[in-house]
Amino acid sequence: MTLTNQAALTLDEAVRTRRSVRAFKPDPVPRETIEKILDLARFAPNGSNIQPWHVYVTAGQTRDRLCADIMAADDADLPEHDEEYRYYPEEWFEPLLARRRSLGKALYGLVGVAKGDTEAMKRQQARNYVFFDAPVGLFFSLDKRNRYGGWMDMGGFLQTAMLAARSFGLHTCPQQSFSKYHRIVRRHVPIPDDHTLVCGMALGYADESAEVNRLEPGRDPVEAFTTFLLD
Ligand SMILES: Cc1cc2nc3c(=O)[nH]c(=O)nc-3n(C[C@H](O)[C@H](O)[C@H](O)COP(=O)(O)O)c2cc1C
Repeated sequence: MTLTNQAALTLDEAVRTRRSVRAFKPDPVPRETIEKILDLARFAPNGSNIQPWHVYVTAGQTRDRLCADIMAADDADLPEHDEEYRYYPEEWFEPLLARRRSLGKALYGLVGVAKGDTEAMKRQQARNYVFFDAPVGLFFSLDKRNRYGGWMDMGGFLQTAMLAARSFGLHTCPQQSFSKYHRIVRRHVPIPDDHTLVCGMALGYADESAEVNRLEPGRDPVEAFTTFLLD
């Protein structure tokens, strides 16, 4: 399906046209639109209605300074920067490993990065730290006292926000990559020390002509992950 900024009018359209977009146009997003997106996201289901999420919206100079600081640190490759939490399994296993490899191959293939070209891979990875040129960067944090439930609630909140963005003709990319630079993010965004920076998120209008936005990671069919016990 060709990527467009056309607003999704139905839930089916929002779900099917949401993609992790990795090239954005500079066009600004009005504050009222961001507020409307978050106003929908807050209706995400969550255990005992605890609503554990916190959101920070950055644009303009705050966004630019934060991006510049992280880009400089990423360039310098300082060892003090490490993820605040581990997203992935300690040891990869199948079929997750194969799926991850397949995504990497497709993504780097589209942007013309040859296998083994670690410098070019790093440059592509660093595009995260300018929100892929999106004018708005969101950050999501969670009080560290939360357990699995709060993290699940946050997942639902993130997805609801991403679908809501589609209904306003906007695109997103959720970005765990900011976790590595949570200390720098905290210099610009008042995330309390007792919160975890869960992820960032690029928000804006997709560059519909960008090669990288042709990426359409497929999914396994329903029967691959479902056991029906209906008798
Ligand atoms: C919580 C979360 C964090 C993610 N972090 C990143 C990231 O840092 N950089 C990135 O390019 N994509 C990131 N992604 C996007 C995934 O790679 C993407 O969702 C997956 O490949 C499926 O593609 P799709 O979103 O286009 O359907 C993240 C996705 C999720 C759900």
